[in-house]
Amino acid sequence: MGLLDKVVSSVLGPLGKFFGTDIAVDLGTANTLIFVKGEGVVLNEPSFVALDAETDKVQAVGREAKGMWGRAPKHIKVIRPIQDGVVDNYDAALIMLRHFLERVSGKFRLMKPNMVICVPSRITQVEKRAVIELGLECGAREVFLMDEPMAAAIGCGLPVEDTKGCMVVDIGGGTTDVAIISMGGIAVKESARVAGYEMDEAIVRYVRDKYHMLIGILDAERIKIEIGSAMPGERKTTKVIGMDLAKGVPKEVDLSSEEVREAIAEPVGAIVDVVRRALDSTTPELVADVADSGILLTGGGSLLRGLDKVLEQKLMLKVERASDPLMSVVLGAGKTLEDLSAYSRAFIR
Ligand SMILES: Nc1ncnc2c1ncn2[C@@H]1O[C@H](COP(=O)(O)OP(=O)(O)OP(=O)(O)O)[C@@H](O)[C@H]1O
Ligand SMILES: [Mg+2]
Repeated sequence: MGLLDKVVSSVLGPLGKFFGTDIAVDLGTANTLIFVKGEGVVLNEPSFVALDAETDKVQAVGREAKGMWGRAPKHIKVIRPIQDGVVDNYDAALIMLRHFLERVSGKFRLMKPNMVICVPSRITQVEKRAVIELGLECGAREVFLMDEPMAAAIGCGLPVEDTKGCMVVDIGGGTTDVAIISMGGIAVKESARVAGYEMDEAIVRYVRDKYHMLIGILDAERIKIEIGSAMPGERKTTKVIGMDLAKGVPKEVDLSSEEVREAIAEPVGAIVDVVRRALDSTTPELVADVADSGILLTGGGSLLRGLDKVLEQKLMLKVERASDPLMSVVLGAGKTLEDLSAYSRAFIR
């Protein structure tokens, strides 16, 4: 540590470490990630907050709050402040983001960093304002908004400045965002509110209709991650415990990977449709570029087994999954912190 760093650290305490550094935030429906310039990813937590129902006092944030979902007593409300990629509950989102920032940097609000925040590509003006306000209220000097697929493309090292177009499909928890990027900007974008959560909800519905039993949404997510797939493959089963709807007592069934595939067929089909719609509204030149370079899949939803193969078969295009799909967006946004002006075209104006 240099002399200046030591002085800053002794005067500013825990925030000294991050003094003057800029940060990037992927404020996702399912997960929030924070990247600090010069440090890398310093936080990766589920986007959940638990508050006292009467006083709004914070009970838990992130992973701990997610664990309370569906389990908390009446006096605690568990909230997912981000829905479909946008701020749904502003106050809860503010509490959550402030808490995360304080966790990574101590008394963060005094630092006034620049903040790059990633948003879904179909975000409205009002929704954009809410995100900017959120960043400013958390102490940002200036907030730069960035389309998630653009951030993911930079995070995966795609040649975004090229005249040749490249396609990114970001399948998150709440939204699937598709973009064709060329010359440092987004030439075509398409988005739909269908991604990982829709699959979880489809599993809950399937089990309810077939076995007359109610399971929790987090259990459905576990089932999807454990045995879910978009393509036929190795047969697996998992034990599921829920509430028998007729008898009102606990019930247990073995659910197979075939059943899960059937359950999630509709959201998987809807994801294919979003990509198809994006291709339909693209110039022949860019379609030829995508046919040549293929599609980059990213976002946690892209980890579903066989989803890349389904897209390949349905769209007759080469599809490649990012090496770290849950991190690509924040890594790309983090990269722009190296030189915000050099990446100015990557930000939403
Ligand atoms: N191995 C896996 N298989 C299938 N799905 C997975 C796997 N791991 C994570 N997911 C799903 O990925 C989703 C979360 O992905 P991600 O963190 O990219 O979303 P997000 O950025 O928070 O959401 P959004 O971008 O829509 O706002 C969840 O729905 C989760 O269930
Ligand atoms: Mg995301």
